[in-house]
Amino acid sequence: MILTDAWPQQRAWVEIDRSRLAHNVGQLRSLLAPATALMAVVKADAYGHGSIEVAKTVLAAGATWLAVATVPEGIELREAGVTAPILLLGAANSSEQIELIEQWGLQPSIVSLEQAQYFQEHLAQPIDVHLKIDTGMSRLGIPWQKAADCCQIIRKLTKLQIASIYSHLATPDEPDPTILELQEQRFATVVAEIKPLFLRLPLLHIANSAGLMVSQRLHHDLVRPGIALYGLCPAPHLGHQLGLQPVMSVKARVTQVKTISAGTGVSYGHRFVAQRDTTIAVVGIGYADGVPRRLSGQLELLLHGQRVPQIGNITMDQIMLDITDISTDSTRVKVNDVATLLGEAEGEKITADDWANLLGTISWEILCGFKHRLPRVLV
Ligand SMILES: Cc1ncc(COP(=O)(O)O)c(C=O)c1O
Repeated sequence: MILTDAWPQQRAWVEIDRSRLAHNVGQLRSLLAPATALMAVVKADAYGHGSIEVAKTVLAAGATWLAVATVPEGIELREAGVTAPILLLGAANSSEQIELIEQWGLQPSIVSLEQAQYFQEHLAQPIDVHLKIDTGMSRLGIPWQKAADCCQIIRKLTKLQIASIYSHLATPDEPDPTILELQEQRFATVVAEIKPLFLRLPLLHIANSAGLMVSQRLHHDLVRPGIALYGLCPAPHLGHQLGLQPVMSVKARVTQVKTISAGTGVSYGHRFVAQRDTTIAVVGIGYADGVPRRLSGQLELLLHGQRVPQIGNITMDQIMLDITDISTDSTRVKVNDVATLLGEAEGEKITADDWANLLGTISWEILCGFKHRLPRVLV
């Protein structure tokens, strides 16, 4: 992740607003009982925001745990001096990974009996581990029907200290609660079955952002929000009352302004042909930065406080805007003016949800899509 102070010279960049991030942590914490911990999910470079700065900000704002997907993601945080407990959500299956987990004090997920036994063989010292139970996501985890039996065996593995038992919800953001309730019941069954095995139960957790918004029943000892930290609602019907604030903005500079005459084509394939004499602004950002090419001709950017259409195909490093309607004397667009792709400018706003809706995808994918070529700038 490039963090730079030299951003005024950049053609394009991602801005990260730490005060908004801290605000979102506060809003989520306001839903939790005081004893419920907040584990901030900072995998995938904190959903594209830059995991080190995000981790430091959320920990200062009240999160007490972090979650990453991979061993290198955890090591990156440790190397930056982050000491909070870090849960590894992905499954580690090699002796090399186990060595790194021990060396860097990461806490792995145990997703099967075989994996637990492999850890027992390869660990030098006892470490905290987290049992992942599959209650209906059909992704990683011990099938819930086998959880109690497995737990009984894993309890006896001397190098595995079970710090938590957790699961992941498949449909908390769907309006129909049927599957959510089924997963909840299965988790409750597992907990009831394993309870006699422990003097004191390990921590229990199941809720991501949507889960924590749906019901306090799902909070247990700890919640694991990702998307809501970054200021996006997990579903149209969830979270709007919280006033979450998008943390990421994406901006790029105008690199040339010119007028083309009616009938002139724009960009590869000439998919756009000017119907009138048209003033265009070339802006220095493209699909190699993470602006999806499939949005060609559908994007709007904010420039001089107004929405302007992007025209023609999005290219690798550049896009073109039709600025004819804002090229009056008072708002004459100049080279180096800043256009906003995502974010707010003078009361107008474009969100990752707007892009996701155009593409038929989810805001998570949009946020994670911005490449490291774009420097992350802290504001
Ligand atoms: C196991 C687990 N917990 C929590 C999260 C956070 O989810 P969200 O971003 O929907 O809050 C994720 C994200 O994929 C996850 O895989």
